[in-house]
Amino acid sequence: MRLTTLEFWAMNNPVRRCIQKRFEFRLFQEMGLTRPGKRILEIGCGSGYGARLLSTIKPASYVGIDLMPEQIERTKGIDLPNTEFAVMDATDLSAFEDASTDYVVVFGILHHIPAWKTVLSEIERVLAPGGSLFIEELQKASTKMIDRLFHWHVPEAGFSYAEFETGMMDAGLEVLETRAYGFFNSYCAQKPDNQT
Ligand SMILES: C[S@@+](CC[C@H](N)C(=O)[O-])C[C@H]1O[C@@H](n2cnc3c(N)ncnc32)[C@H](O)[C@@H]1O
Repeated sequence: MRLTTLEFWAMNNPVRRCIQKRFEFRLFQEMGLTRPGKRILEIGCGSGYGARLLSTIKPASYVGIDLMPEQIERTKGIDLPNTEFAVMDATDLSAFEDASTDYVVVFGILHHIPAWKTVLSEIERVLAPGGSLFIEELQKASTKMIDRLFHWHVPEAGFSYAEFETGMMDAGLEVLETRAYGFFNSYCAQKPDNQT
């Protein structure tokens, strides 16, 4: 779903970047997002600040996708090795082959997408066996509070954390770790490697 003008502004300012760097990325690192040489797909990459953070772990490659052309337009000045950005809907990742990614990273997107279960299935498909999903999300109880003031989320979107965790398991992902941070939950989930 496209962001409202106000949320677009809220996502593209120094305060948001500070939170993303000091809390959200740090939590993902504590949960294991540290290994260099991985193929990374970031879903809902916005204007590309996540790419800058993720470049510090020296990935083999990084692709950031976002639904909004206005966000991808803002990534134009980013000059990082083996890095690409594309306008794409997360519910259809058919541009990526099965098992083509080692890490999928999501900084708070799926609570905007009514078909969030489809996105989880697509994530499972593109992850290589043993690959990891690092995802932070906000549950519906919290988005409803925000929407009393701002109307940022479509009513058809959203889930409780219990529903979200079940959704990851139904998609074939194993939840390895959960951390609560303010109103957000961060997860590390893995696509099982049945050969190990
Ligand atoms: C809350 S913003 C977060 C942006 C960025 N990850 C950050 O943390 O600052 C949600 C982002 O998800 C994108 N988005 C929403 N629905 C999407 C979809 N179906 N496919 C891909 N991106 C989507 C929006 O355009 C927006 O950039």
